[in-house]
Amino acid sequence: MTGDRYTPTCVISGLGAWLPPRVVTNDELTAHLDTSDSWIRERTGIAARRRSAPGVSTGDLAVAAGELALKAAGGGPVDAVVLGTTTPDRLCPGTAPEVASRLGLTGAAAFDVSAVCTSFLYGLATAAGLIATGTAESVLLIGAETYSTILDPDDRTTSVIFGDGAGAMVLRAGRPMEPGAVGPVLLGSDGSQSDLIQIPAGGSRQRSTGAAAPRQDHYFRMNGSDTYRNAVLRTTAVAQAALERRGWSPDQVDRFAAHQANARIVDAVCDRLGIPPGEQRLSNIERVGNTAAASVPLLLAESVVEGRLRPGDRTLLAAFGGGLTWGATTVLWPDVPALTG
Ligand code: UT7
Repeated sequence: MTGDRYTPTCVISGLGAWLPPRVVTNDELTAHLDTSDSWIRERTGIAARRRSAPGVSTGDLAVAAGELALKAAGGGPVDAVVLGTTTPDRLCPGTAPEVASRLGLTGAAAFDVSAVCTSFLYGLATAAGLIATGTAESVLLIGAETYSTILDPDDRTTSVIFGDGAGAMVLRAGRPMEPGAVGPVLLGSDGSQSDLIQIPAGGSRQRSTGAAAPRQDHYFRMNGSDTYRNAVLRTTAVAQAALERRGWSPDQVDRFAAHQANARIVDAVCDRLGIPPGEQRLSNIERVGNTAAASVPLLLAESVVEGRLRPGDRTLLAAFGGGLTWGATTVLWPDVPALTG
């Protein structure tokens, strides 16, 4: 087959994560919300989350995590910056071009991916496509969120769950069989349930009416119990499909990096998949809460730094979010550095 070129696969070459320093404990929230530390811990597994300081945006967090990931990967050129987020700096333009420019990557392709908590998995599939088609040889993929800017401080059903943070991954062109090769990435959606998670105001649906929206419509809203049910079903199914595509059985999974939506959701998914309690179930939700698009890369970076995710680990990644959207993939974990700040 002379003249044929191999299709490059996207391979992980470094990770970074950054959390804003301010810790908000459950006790701090109980001061102004009708909730309790025990309710939040028992129903979600969360003890604390981070909140950005006034004036700090998603782009700022993305730059901090991106810088660390690039340093971990040893620098080098990056052809594309993909930013997954629910909380862009502005409705228009995308946040990624400014992030790229602040990272010294002016000229690189740069755009946002919007799939709420599944944004990082959607971004991973996008990065794989950019690399496979030769559009990019190296991609900086970031998941970053400042949910504190969209949460209704008086809504106990959402403000106890979500936190701010950012995680980033550098991906390069490589071979399918080498450690760190990603995929295949399986994705799905069900837009008939788009109202389960939404910010009703601010987009063309509301603006086209010509009427001002009530204050609460500018906040993030979630139908918790229906979202919970869908999260368990969809995450289990897509994770199972990703394992089948890879030819791994659940008992061969060394580490599961699930979107940290709620500890009970992750446990229910693991139980259904047959991944036993223990070190296989990577977790940081107790300290950082649900950081949406940042959740999976933040968990991966922290786990590498803490030695809980090691080279050679057969690793399953999965996420679920508004849209509804879901996705999963598998990686034989490579020997790559991660930096957290
Ligand atoms: O990131 C991807 C998308 N997000 C998710 O996947 C999150 C999915 N949903 C969840 O994690 C859970 O549904 C919640 C944590 C949001 C809620 O937990 P739940 O066990 O599903 O509770 P529930 O919504 O069924 O509500 C049970 C009760 C209700 O009171 P009543 O109607 O039984 O009197 C709620 O009003 O708990 C009440 N409640 C609270 N009580 C104390 C809801 N939030 C709170 C709270 N503190 N913070």
